[in-house]
Amino acid sequence: MDKVFRLTQKDDQEFAKEKLNFFYRDDLIPAEKKTFLTDLKNSFGPYLGVKASTGDTHGLMDASSQIATFGLGFNPQPFFGTAHHLESWLNRTDTENFKHLKKSFTDFLKRKIKWEELHLTFCNSGAEANEIALGYCYRNRVNSFANKVLAFEGSFHGRMQITLSATWNPSKREPFEWKDYLALYSPFPAMTNDEINRPKLKNWEEVWMVSSSNDFQIPKKWEFIGKKRDVDLLNLEVSCLLNVRNHLIKGDVFAILAEPMQCEGGDRYGSDRFFQALLLMAKSFRVPLIFDEVQTGFNLGRDFFWHKSFNLNLSPDFVTCAKKAQVGLVLSHDPFKFNIDFSVASAIRGYIHGVAIDQSQDKILELEKLTRKKLTAFCKKFSKYVENPRVYGLAFGFDIFEKDHLDKLIKVRFDHSLLYSPAGDKTLRFRLNLSFKEKDLDYLFINLENVFKEVYEGKVRDDQPFYVKSNDPKEDYDWHEMLLETKLKNLQGKKTNGKEAISKIKKHFEKKHKVTLHLLNKNSFKTWRKKIIQLEKEMYEPARQTPIEEFDKVINDPKGIALLAEVKGKIAAITFCSPIQNYPLERGLRLDPFFNDKKTLYIIDTTVNKKHHGAKMGRDIKYVLYKVAELKGFERMHGRNRVRMAASMLKINLSLGAYENYYLPEDYPDFEPYRDVICYTSSINWKKPPLNLSNATNAPLGVSDLDSSFVNNQLPALINKVCLSNMVSESFLTDVLDIFSLLPKDLRHGYTTSGQSEAVDKLIKSIWYKYKNDKEYPKNIKLLTFKGHYFGEGSFLSRTLSGIDAPYFPVTRLDAPNEVNMNDILFKLEKELSQKIYHSVWIEPLTQLSMEFIPKDFLKELKNLCQKYQVALIYNETASCLYRYNSELFFASNDESIKPDAGMCFLGGQAGICYMDRKFYLDKPLMLISTWDGDEFSFKNFAHLIRNISQEELKKTRDLFQKVLVETLIPIDGQSFKLSGGFGYFLGPLPLNLQKLFDFKKGKYIVCPSHSAMKEFLKIYDRP
Ligand SMILES: Cc1ncc(COP(=O)(O)O)c(C=O)c1O
Repeated sequence: MDKVFRLTQKDDQEFAKEKLNFFYRDDLIPAEKKTFLTDLKNSFGPYLGVKASTGDTHGLMDASSQIATFGLGFNPQPFFGTAHHLESWLNRTDTENFKHLKKSFTDFLKRKIKWEELHLTFCNSGAEANEIALGYCYRNRVNSFANKVLAFEGSFHGRMQITLSATWNPSKREPFEWKDYLALYSPFPAMTNDEINRPKLKNWEEVWMVSSSNDFQIPKKWEFIGKKRDVDLLNLEVSCLLNVRNHLIKGDVFAILAEPMQCEGGDRYGSDRFFQALLLMAKSFRVPLIFDEVQTGFNLGRDFFWHKSFNLNLSPDFVTCAKKAQVGLVLSHDPFKFNIDFSVASAIRGYIHGVAIDQSQDKILELEKLTRKKLTAFCKKFSKYVENPRVYGLAFGFDIFEKDHLDKLIKVRFDHSLLYSPAGDKTLRFRLNLSFKEKDLDYLFINLENVFKEVYEGKVRDDQPFYVKSNDPKEDYDWHEMLLETKLKNLQGKKTNGKEAISKIKKHFEKKHKVTLHLLNKNSFKTWRKKIIQLEKEMYEPARQTPIEEFDKVINDPKGIALLAEVKGKIAAITFCSPIQNYPLERGLRLDPFFNDKKTLYIIDTTVNKKHHGAKMGRDIKYVLYKVAELKGFERMHGRNRVRMAASMLKINLSLGAYENYYLPEDYPDFEPYRDVICYTSSINWKKPPLNLSNATNAPLGVSDLDSSFVNNQLPALINKVCLSNMVSESFLTDVLDIFSLLPKDLRHGYTTSGQSEAVDKLIKSIWYKYKNDKEYPKNIKLLTFKGHYFGEGSFLSRTLSGIDAPYFPVTRLDAPNEVNMNDILFKLEKELSQKIYHSVWIEPLTQLSMEFIPKDFLKELKNLCQKYQVALIYNETASCLYRYNSELFFASNDESIKPDAGMCFLGGQAGICYMDRKFYLDKPLMLISTWDGDEFSFKNFAHLIRNISQEELKKTRDLFQKVLVETLIPIDGQSFKLSGGFGYFLGPLPLNLQKLFDFKKGKYIVCPSHSAMKEFLKIYDRP
């Protein structure tokens, strides 16, 4: 149903500013957020909901699509599917369902990228994806002395230490540079238009293919094939390529990192010809080429991957994605493996996003055409000020003549209720998404004209309020809250009244659509049989009509479910399903691994009468069907959707958590352009995941922590992953404040992060900035840590600290301290620190991989030594937080006698913080950001935990858990353990049923359960 939304007004920013200032006080976080407070639940299509002083929500047109992360707009229907996977809520990767979904994601991307073999590494950001891909390249480098990344002028690859060094913009890069770790740069042959498929040349490929040979030569004159010639661009490309060759020939480059279209650098397009030569040259030198598709991937352009539009006949070595992938992604040909914790919800949403966007490729091309028309008219109108319009897929941009005006054009954008971004020093950049309709594009260009008139001609627009009509997102929330409610209750073993639940959802359906909904049986079916035959005839051509005998089958099977919506004796909609075994003759169904499963249903037909199209009746009748199936005890719903031609039905299925079970290419023997079929599966109810007593750091919430009001409150953040570096909600800021409030007062300054590696990078940079700019501090970069202590492995810095692969940066890793060797280690430590070559010392008070407690006396002495030698002491509190190191203190850092200068803590999913003393805190805005800076959903999960479980309750459960665990283990011969407050490890043999409960790392069973997992264990093993 449509609702009228008011658009942002000037005073909305004032209102937000005041609220933001409250959170910026005392230097909690840098004052860098845009001056709006988000209201995710009330965001719709292209409009971000922002809070107004009146308490209402206003819409802000997001013409950046939060810089290319929203491909379907806000609150898109398919994203609700994320909520139907229990793994999203519990951040569990170890279930059969998630493993299956990950395989479906891989298979889908493999079809898009067309590689023979494809492996995925999930991670947390674009920068991390690049640093992982670069790490794989570094590990496999051909020249052992190679330690340089080659990037292009104008590039942007993220803000971790190595990706930042490969990011061209000096104002971003230079403040943090380390002179021995700089990237190399080649010029980029940027085009001024979007025609990336350029005239071909004779012998072009043959020439670059042998570029590593000593007698390499380029022809004196290139010969064009065909009539078209673009000599100037060609000359530019050749000179750039020769520059690349000059770098490669020295042998010190271990990877080339390139965006197929430079986004942040100014929407600078490169041609197919250039990239073909670059790839050939890279292969010739055996230096891997990474395509950074963080912004361009997932169909920003015309193809799912931008580089596919180059029609290269060789594959790049790696492709990285983030943004619309919703999760960091490294695509590789080989099964590399760094262990990265990531947000499962984001990975699932990324899968849904990919599939849904891919179904709409034709729509993207139509949108491009429409945009081109409007952009051309705009540029013509303002030809005195702008030039070089570029449009490709969902991306468009143009350059302005006078660079000085760029800031002004950005400054006034919000007054015109528009969000777009600058790129490079003279480009305005826009990112559309599939929720943009023609009326939205009109709105965009009208307001952009107003912006230009104001900036260039001093004309202020009439300050009339703007309104837009749009679907009310509340409707989706109502449905899904209803659907999730019984799933959760059943999972938690709470009583549900099936009849009542069905009646509630049925009434909801009837009221919305003004129909009567029948659950058909043998008797009532008789009235409708003929009408169903008629409906099929009216709605489909003969090949797609479901034979009436199939409907009979459903009715004759006591397990079949048939729903029919009626208006005055006429059919409005039907949906029929029965156990999958009933359909052995359906094409491809016997390939289904669940074919013999009695609890799997198969949908044979969902049809909506033409008269009712456009009211979402097809979606809604399916939602009712799922609820009925759930309450009848079925476990899965299967069906098939013809690719692209049944896109809207597929999107409904995605919204219910469906994913590809298997894929049938060329299934329809006809002449339509799309003949493949996706056979999908979806779970109707939630099953308890296996009990795991080791994974509290990445999965802090368990089944017992969930309740309906928490689930409903969380839904908006689960469905809309905004860029926290850009705009935030008040509730997010409250979560951050509450989490930081658990730290000692003088350490409450810092940044939110997407995980451990990002925290490491932000801490090192912030501290380095202080060292560099304060003459009191030495300018050291060497790090010191201890073997077995862990800081993530998503970046070169974190891998250096964690001891993964050969260290890239200078580091000393002393033996891990313990009660026995601590004096010896302190002696060695002092010897090292006295050399005055160290940047910082890194330690985990409780080690997350081996669950060893570091003696407090050691930490005290360590602190003294760090103070004596003026080296920053940094804790990783991932394992030691939540009273795990000290049952009286939330963080180890709260103990004044061992308090560090700075610290970091991973909070599970995609949330982390780094914190520091005021002296090391860099308060300048936008210096230490990444696109996401964490994920609101994950922060909310952690905040829920700390608000809902008291210290006393935790202690009580932990003491009992330890007692019962010890009693369970003690009868086993050879068993020994080291546990404190329910955490630690044990060694020795274990029967299989107990082994399953723990992660086994380096000979130890790790004991680090969440509160919920402890309670579950006690339920099973605590016998009186
Ligand atoms: C091409 C490209 N690479 C890498 C990144 C870094 O991604 P993130 O901010 O998620 O670290 C960006 C972000 O804008 C990007 O556009």
